[in-house]
Amino acid sequence: MSDTLSTSQAEGRDLSPTPEFAAHANGQADLYDAAAADFEGFWADQARQRLTWAKDFDQTLDWSGAPFAKWYVGGELNAAYNCVDRHVEAGNGDRVAIHFEGEGGDTRTITYAELQRDVAKAANALESLGVSKGDRVAIYLPMIPEAVAAMLACARIGAPHSVVFGGFSADALRTRIADAEAKLVITADGQFRRGKSAPLKPAVDAAVEGETTVEKVLVVQRTRDDVAWDDDRDVWWHEVVDAASDQHEAVPHDSEHPLFILYTSGTTGKPKGIFHTTGGYLTQAAYTNSVVHDVHPESDVYWCTADIGWVTGHSYIVYGPLANGATQVIYEGTPDTPHHGRWWEIIDKYKVSILYTAPTAIRTFMKWGDDIPAKFDLSSLRVLGSVGEPINPEAWLWYRKHIGADRCPIVDTWWQTETGGIMISPLPGVTTLEPGSAQRPVPGISAEILDDEGQPLHDPEAVGYLVLTKPWPGMLRGIWGDEERYKETYWSRFGPKYYFAGDGAKYDEKGNIWLLGRVDDVMNVSGHRLSTAEIESALVSHPSVAEAAVVGASDDTTGQAVVAFVILRGGAHDDGDATVQELRNHVAKEIGPIAKPRSIMVVSELPKTRSGKIMRRLLRDVAENREVGDVTTLADSSVMGLIKEGMSSGA
Ligand code: WTA
Repeated sequence: MSDTLSTSQAEGRDLSPTPEFAAHANGQADLYDAAAADFEGFWADQARQRLTWAKDFDQTLDWSGAPFAKWYVGGELNAAYNCVDRHVEAGNGDRVAIHFEGEGGDTRTITYAELQRDVAKAANALESLGVSKGDRVAIYLPMIPEAVAAMLACARIGAPHSVVFGGFSADALRTRIADAEAKLVITADGQFRRGKSAPLKPAVDAAVEGETTVEKVLVVQRTRDDVAWDDDRDVWWHEVVDAASDQHEAVPHDSEHPLFILYTSGTTGKPKGIFHTTGGYLTQAAYTNSVVHDVHPESDVYWCTADIGWVTGHSYIVYGPLANGATQVIYEGTPDTPHHGRWWEIIDKYKVSILYTAPTAIRTFMKWGDDIPAKFDLSSLRVLGSVGEPINPEAWLWYRKHIGADRCPIVDTWWQTETGGIMISPLPGVTTLEPGSAQRPVPGISAEILDDEGQPLHDPEAVGYLVLTKPWPGMLRGIWGDEERYKETYWSRFGPKYYFAGDGAKYDEKGNIWLLGRVDDVMNVSGHRLSTAEIESALVSHPSVAEAAVVGASDDTTGQAVVAFVILRGGAHDDGDATVQELRNHVAKEIGPIAKPRSIMVVSELPKTRSGKIMRRLLRDVAENREVGDVTTLADSSVMGLIKEGMSSGA
């Protein structure tokens, strides 16, 4: 089905907000006017209204050192105090902060008062293990409440956390620990996935073996599986945290004090440590969670299905909703355990009213069938959200109909690890929705679409590059330890005035922005960012591989899928399936299972230009079973014939 077909199917539906929804929405149309009239005044108001500052700021934005921004200069605050303590002080200590649902059905209900004690204890424990302000702490945990407490304990002390997704391998963890020079790692014995326990601690043991900056490993007991133990280094969470005092003073930190580092894939093999600071980031997370997700803390039950290992989990599980005092669900496991209706059962059970998830999940549910959600009572839902990749109109319409009862607004939210918070999205109480489009920048954010020469494009359907034209509070403050790479990656493609997002985009005739996917060598697989270069370097680190090229081929469920082409070394024997399997496992070991190629083709040559650059465009044609495009710039034009021939003969 093409986009136009499904969009026209939507025509005839009224996708404007109902008067009732509009009347109660947090985000009203006047926000656009306020931000346009006084940009800095608007953001100053957001910061002061939504957060509690220990010391007010003197200057909203200092852009004199562009592209290095300072927001809320002179202000001081504590992010953990803002996310927890102040709600207790305001008399909301009995409000549920977290409804935790373990994969195996174990549950925990944590109020704000309890979360305050948990965070204070964890902060005291971290300090007793030698962590102080400025030290980096790596967090490698499953989706359990201790992950939230650990992040907030770090924030409380002012020790930037670096959360590493639990699906990453020991090697990936080691690289991230080394780059951030983390002093402590917080992990668990293991996690529950698909009805089984999967170990986590062995990866940490391997990652800190030999020379390392890590002094202590703090281990949460989750699965109770046996783990190897180093008495000098390893400490049980339930021993030190449970025994610690539940009183801990939240000292204020400078607005620009680093809050966290989060590694993401770029166009080179080395992951980038995107770092965010305190005041601006927290302002944008709280503001967008309020006006876009429309969280009403006194009545809503909010559920963001992301993992805390990704930025979505940082901004929309931990910092945004907790700063707003929301009640939320955290689910540990996979959507198919123990049955395909698990998510809908959770929504029914906790009366979830706001659901924020990813297109890849929605497409998976479409495949599983409409009858599954139909068995559950989803009538508590009132807002649906999407994030991570473009949502195709078919999936949008399915989500609206089968989950949202043709009633709930869907907010398609475009943003990045780098942006810290949502940038382009409808406001559910204001915007007439357009299935498949993220539509327009939220109030306070400015974007443009530029052509190859850097000229603004406004013609409907003309495809260009998305740029952001003004700094924003939640923007990254740099790449950890690499100022040059920050300038070069984001602020040079179209000159220093434009932040280059790396996404293709176009306007439609109604002025809506459509995001069209990455324009660089970054793939988006199930909403996870992976770099072609990173997977290529994992492949060539295998002794049998001489050369590798990786492309993202379109995939009905995961958006894109990793397809690799490899040339084996002379002497390496091609054992067909066994070789392919071994290489796939090798990538999983080097990076993590999410990076495993869907398919690997052993070839004798790769298509290269005369200057030696691999022409991925042609390989993508092969991977997507298309007629191969223009080959005239190839150094050897017979190569593509050889590759195609090899494939049809089953290589
Ligand atoms: C893509 C995830 C289209 C985009 C929050 C971006 C999207 C990258 C959308 C960032 C969306 C995210 N529509 N594309 N609503 N949301 N993307 O850093 O390519 O993991 O550059 O942040 O995801 O991925 P990241």
